[in-house]
Amino acid sequence: MKNIAVLASGRGSNLEAIIKNIENGTLKANLACVVSDNKDARALQIARDHGFKAIWLDPGPKKTWLLPEFEEKYVQTLQEHNVDLVCLAGFMRIIKKPLLQAFKGRILNIHPALLPSFPGLDVQKKAIDYGVKFSGCTVHFVTEDVDAGPIVTQAPVPVLDNDTPVTLAARILKEEHRIYTEAINIILSGEYKIEGRRVIKAG
Ligand code: GRF
Repeated sequence: MKNIAVLASGRGSNLEAIIKNIENGTLKANLACVVSDNKDARALQIARDHGFKAIWLDPGPKKTWLLPEFEEKYVQTLQEHNVDLVCLAGFMRIIKKPLLQAFKGRILNIHPALLPSFPGLDVQKKAIDYGVKFSGCTVHFVTEDVDAGPIVTQAPVPVLDNDTPVTLAARILKEEHRIYTEAINIILSGEYKIEGRRVIKAG
């Protein structure tokens, strides 16, 4: 069984879904550790409650990214836990060289919109304000360009006339919890190839 790590900064509902799916056998992976830049992240508590290793790592002085010497600690920790695949789930920092190089092609992220539409933050509000009739979620590889790596899987979600960012986010989140497991299973199985930007399932 391959080892995954989840990096999360907050609420941890995607982590919770990942743990549930590991426990019920839908997700064929071993959760080696959960790492957070935020001591008070609910994600860390969820990990502990389920008996998984929960690690806080000092993010250093920057707000939205990690200085190289701090990011190196993340790399070290993930390597010490023999992590095969890093899964970002609400990790609120831009990933840079140290992690990208150490885990090249082995970092996934989940984003609550149908990329390439609405990268960045507050994307449910952006989708409503723009007037799209469908939004959704995307699991993609993490590359140097934020929210722009090859797409593993997506799920569409309708935007209703009476949606607020909160109601739309809740409907999208349900799909996030489903497709992240699907995407991790595909990548861990190794049964895919990348052609240009396209992630294509083998067989
Ligand atoms: C999710 O909407 C995810 O798509 C985004 O951040 C949010 C994290 O939520 N990247 P949670 O911490 O998994 O509940």
